[in-house]
Parts: sequence; structure tokens; C-alpha cells
Amino acid sequence: MSELKTPHAGDDHAEDDDVVALLMRQHGDIRNLFDEVEATTGEERRDAFRRLVRLLAVHETAEEEVVHPFARKGFAGGEQVVKDRLAEEKAAKETLAALDELDTDDPKFMPQLLKLRKDVQEHARAEERYEFTHIRRSTDVAGLASMAKAIKAAEAVAPTRPHPGVESGAKNMALGPVAALMDRAKDAVRQAMGK
Ligand SMILES: [Fe+2]
Ligand SMILES: [Fe+2]
Repeated sequence: MSELKTPHAGDDHAEDDDVVALLMRQHGDIRNLFDEVEATTGEERRDAFRRLVRLLAVHETAEEEVVHPFARKGFAGGEQVVKDRLAEEKAAKETLAALDELDTDDPKFMPQLLKLRKDVQEHARAEERYEFTHIRRSTDVAGLASMAKAIKAAEAVAPTRPHPGVESGAKNMALGPVAALMDRAKDAVRQAMGK
């Protein structure tokens, strides 16, 4: 009996210690939020979309501040890998901006969302394959943990898991506030890294 262990015990701990585990969990959260936006309508869809926008903003900002700068110098070919990832992130942000101008009930919303989803998914897959694997191989335990700490600091700026009662003020948030959110995430990351 004592040998029975919870199958996923320690997963949260892994995220605290390992930037790659943490970012891959966020990739999973992003996928789930796309599912939620697609599966809902009306106010629920609006709310799920706001959470998706927030998580994408925080996630990509944190990657640009923490992971890409490391990858650029951390392994052979890193410079080109990061250049490719930044081009994908720029394209996704442009689609996101176009999407943010539409109401979630607009008939043009869903085709744009599916385009964004495809872009974001291909980007995440490329990061996992060409960047994260090398980061894990070329970083020591302390490096993985300190990068995880910085990503967590960014995540704390924009909680994306539902907290009843706090959503109303964030509804109908335009891209202006999203840009401000990216700035706050950037500040949080820099502070966590002691810059
Ligand atoms: Fe990214
Ligand atoms: Fe990512």
C-alpha cells in the first residue's frame, strides 16, 4: 500500500524547477483555451477569448525575454533558431491584433481564430523541437530553475485560470491593455532575473 504513488505527483514541482516543463504546460493551456473558445458562444466565448489573449501575451513575452536570449547563445545554431521563432511570433501577433478588432460573434471571427490556432500550434511545435530540447541539453539545473522563476513571475501578472468574480473588469479589453500587459510581464521578468 505504501508503494502506491499518485501517478502525477511532483508535476507541479517539475514546473518550478524546469523552464521547459513550465513552457510546455503553458502550450497545453493555450491549446485548451483554443478548444474552449471554439466550443462556446456569446459571453462565455468572449471570456475564454480574453483569457486566451492574456495567456498568449504573457507566454510570448516571457519567451522573448527569457528563453530566446538564452537559446541565441546557448547552443550551436541557436541564432537562426531564434530568428525563425521570432518571425513566427510576429506573424501570430499580427493575426491576434486583427482578431482582437472583431467581436467574438462576428462571422469573420472563427476563420481568423482557426488561422491563429494553426500558426500558434506550428510555432509551439517548432519551439519544442528546435529550441526547448537544446535548452534542456545545454542548461544546468540552476539555469533551468532560474528561467522557470522568471516565467512564473510573468504568469503571475495575468492569471488565466478562472477566478470567479474577477473577470468582469477584464471583459472587452482592447489590444491597448494587452500591450500594457506585455509591458508589465516584461517588467516582472526583468525584476525576477535581477535586471
Ligand atoms: Fe513562442
Ligand atoms: Fe511557446
